[in-house]
Amino acid sequence: MRTPLVAGNWKMNGSRDANRALLSALKGSLGDIRGVDVAVCPPAVYLAEIANDLSGGPIAVGAQDCSDQEKGAYTGELAGSMLAEVGCRYVIVGHSERRERQNEDNAWVAAKFVAAQAAGLTPILCVGEQKADREGGRTETVVAEQLDAVLDAAGVEAFERAVIAYEPVWAIGTGLTATPEQAQEVHAFIRNRVAGRDPQVAADLRILYGGSMKADNAAGLLALEDIDGGLIGGASLDADAFSAIARAAGEQVAA
Ligand code: PGA
Repeated sequence: MRTPLVAGNWKMNGSRDANRALLSALKGSLGDIRGVDVAVCPPAVYLAEIANDLSGGPIAVGAQDCSDQEKGAYTGELAGSMLAEVGCRYVIVGHSERRERQNEDNAWVAAKFVAAQAAGLTPILCVGEQKADREGGRTETVVAEQLDAVLDAAGVEAFERAVIAYEPVWAIGTGLTATPEQAQEVHAFIRNRVAGRDPQVAADLRILYGGSMKADNAAGLLALEDIDGGLIGGASLDADAFSAIARAAGEQVAA
């Protein structure tokens, strides 16, 4: 039985005032929610104070990125151990916005995944195809390359302590969502690919969907067999929308 995870990727949004308001609304609307793990991933400068504020409660904290290095002369980077020390449980690696803007390639993402786990964090590994890949029939090839790079570097056992997020790039922040069928197809592909290396690891692995998941389309996606939660961008900045998605995920378990 996989407990779903709903994680909010705040991206480069927030301020102390806005964070306080959002988190206080979230605490109120989530209450003591059950049947689903919930996390927020704020910008790095706020992680320590937010982790402090949320400590002991049901909302975990994740970072949006980490270095592939342990320490040293890497100006501007943050080590996994630092993120863990200030209270992070999760870290997103390989988000498509970083793959694009920071030119993170599959090998680099795999090294970040390994470094994050070595620091005791649970990586949320993002994979997903561009619009042209989907239109050209290359979705599975691209996703397989992204996944295999990490499976090869970290070993399949590493996925006992990791989460995958399938995020079709054309659906991120665009309001275009993959249809439940399109999403389920790729989620099943990912699970089968991991199962090719270890069926038990694949059966226990949480695979989140990300890309314009909102309160009104979440239930349809979360109902599908291989969709175990969501990585939520825009809607995670709205307490009502985010908690509605978390509730929808929890209800799938109860159902
Ligand atoms: P979105 O972002 O929900 O705003 O599409 C998802 C993500 O990038 O993780």
